Amino acid sequence: MAKVSVLFVCLGNICRSPTAEGIFRALVRAQGLEQFILIDSAGTHAYHIGEAPDVRAQAAAARRGIDLSGLRGRQATRADIETFDFILAMDHENLAHLRNLSPPGHEHKVRLFLEFAPQRPERDVPDPYFGGAGGFDRVLDMVEEAAAGLLEHIRRERLE
Ligand code: 4NP
Repeated sequence: MAKVSVLFVCLGNICRSPTAEGIFRALVRAQGLEQFILIDSAGTHAYHIGEAPDVRAQAAAARRGIDLSGLRGRQATRADIETFDFILAMDHENLAHLRNLSPPGHEHKVRLFLEFAPQRPERDVPDPYFGGAGGFDRVLDMVEEAAAGLLEHIRRERLE
């Protein structure tokens, strides 16, 4: 069976999308599904290529047992949109950017990550980069809910 592939995308690939990658990886591992799901993250912009996640994002994730230190920033490409099954934008700005970048016929795979947390009122994971430390915990709360919803969706639609 071909792996289901998931790409998380934010602006810089140093705060929100690596957090989503780390949380989702841990969840997939806990359910023994690593061999079925390929996971990655990227940014719409090139500001932080090759960099480790923001130290505040790493610290907040570490408090929940998630190690983000090995991840490195990269920029999302047109080829990513062609090859990944799920391209999950953290906010509407990322969504618009990715849909513009998309090769024709692949736009439907680009969605808002918080579609998978329908019980939450927000649609965007807010950018924590310029805010206080509490922003990173808020990102984690949202990402944990959406990651659980996403994995449930993938299990139901693609792995049953
Ligand atoms: P991210 O956060 O998109 O969640 O990785 C940001 C990181 C860097 C910048 C903005 C947002 N920046 O302007 O450099």
